[in-house]
Amino acid sequence: MSALYAWLRRHPRLVDGVLAAVLAFGGLATGLVLRQWLLIPATLGVTVPVIFRRAHPAGAFGTAIAAGAAQVVAGIRPSPADIAILILLYTLAAYTTRRQSVLGLAVCLLGSAAELGRIRHAATISLTDWLLMASILFAGPCLIAWVLGDSMRYRRAYYANLEERAARLERDRDAQARIATAAERARIARELHDVVAHNVSVMVVQADGAAYALGTDPGRAREALAAISATGRQALAEMRVLLGVLRSNDDIGEAGPVAAGPGGVTAGSAGVSQTAGRAALAPVPGIGQLDDLLDQTRAAGLQVSCAVEGEPLPLPDGTALAAYRIIQESLTNTRKHGGPWARACVLLRYTTDALELAVTDNGLGGAAASDGAGHGLTGMRERAAMYGGTVHAGPRMNGGFQVTARLPIAPARASAA
Ligand SMILES: Nc1ncnc2c1ncn2[C@@H]1O[C@H](COP(=O)(O)OP(=O)(O)O)[C@@H](O)[C@H]1O
Ligand SMILES: [Mg+2]
Repeated sequence: MSALYAWLRRHPRLVDGVLAAVLAFGGLATGLVLRQWLLIPATLGVTVPVIFRRAHPAGAFGTAIAAGAAQVVAGIRPSPADIAILILLYTLAAYTTRRQSVLGLAVCLLGSAAELGRIRHAATISLTDWLLMASILFAGPCLIAWVLGDSMRYRRAYYANLEERAARLERDRDAQARIATAAERARIARELHDVVAHNVSVMVVQADGAAYALGTDPGRAREALAAISATGRQALAEMRVLLGVLRSNDDIGEAGPVAAGPGGVTAGSAGVSQTAGRAALAPVPGIGQLDDLLDQTRAAGLQVSCAVEGEPLPLPDGTALAAYRIIQESLTNTRKHGGPWARACVLLRYTTDALELAVTDNGLGGAAASDGAGHGLTGMRERAAMYGGTVHAGPRMNGGFQVTARLPIAPARASAA
């Protein structure tokens, strides 16, 4: 049954052609039986437009109405073919604007009134019979056809609206997925940059030192080699966390083998939070690892001092990682751009609602040659922005370079963390 219905839907012209033929048969048969030859062109005038009703609803309706009016004027009596006008009124209401279809309805009602006037004139019928006939035979069917068509139009508009909304939702979802992917890529790029820039540059410095001390001071050379292997191992561990995040994004069902470390790399990042805990294959650095970082930096030849002001607050994982990375990259920059004699000073200040960082050096500052791609400072700003914070970086008035950051700690989170 539904197959037949589908087939009919796919061939609307054929369906309308058959409909027109059936109606025309009714009109022509009446004409032949009553020997009213004028009924033949009148029948064709109202039924042929049915074939084109869907493609040209207004044109088809207008043609049939013209034929019907000619029929009334010529005094040709109504026939079953006139049902075509009702079908065309329905189509007009279903496929065109309401204004057009109301106009069509009015024309139909006027036409039927004229026809009824003529009938009453010709035959003597009582007024009540006439009114009954008028409403049953003419006005009623016209109204019904119009109401059916109009509700059809309403339903179609409703479904079109639903479809449009579904399409829009799908587009929105795609766009959001793309934004989340871009944010995730940026985040991974930041992590990679900071891990690689810091650890590899420490290893290079240590390797240079080891090469230098090899002949003269084997003990120092051994120390440097130990520092290189420790740094390399740390870099590997951090990279593994990053790869763990990537892998668990590819395959959400995979379970992480090791318990969560002190800082989930995933915290706060769009589209990744579902991997929290699962991706933590190794501890992710936070403020707790700051001492190790400073030791490592000192071992790589940069003098660093550190001071903490205020009551240390437990930080949310993401904020702690951001703070660690900002300090790490600032120190890497001092080693890289500040010149061989530069010293750095790290200051952490806990206020009631934020962690404020300042990494200051007395290096070359604005005089440093700028050859970097600038991913480090950009990454710091992005990291801070992710947690509603800010970063300012630039050369200082009287020499050196300073990076300051403010990372808000929501009071609720600060107490809950
Ligand atoms: N401590 C610093 N001393 C002098 N210049 C710096 C310092 N930190 C950053 N800069 C300048 O800012 C630029 C951008 O730094 P960054 O974004 O970390 O990129 P990169 O370190 O790859 O060059 C550097 O190229 C350098 O010119
Ligand atoms: Mg840098």
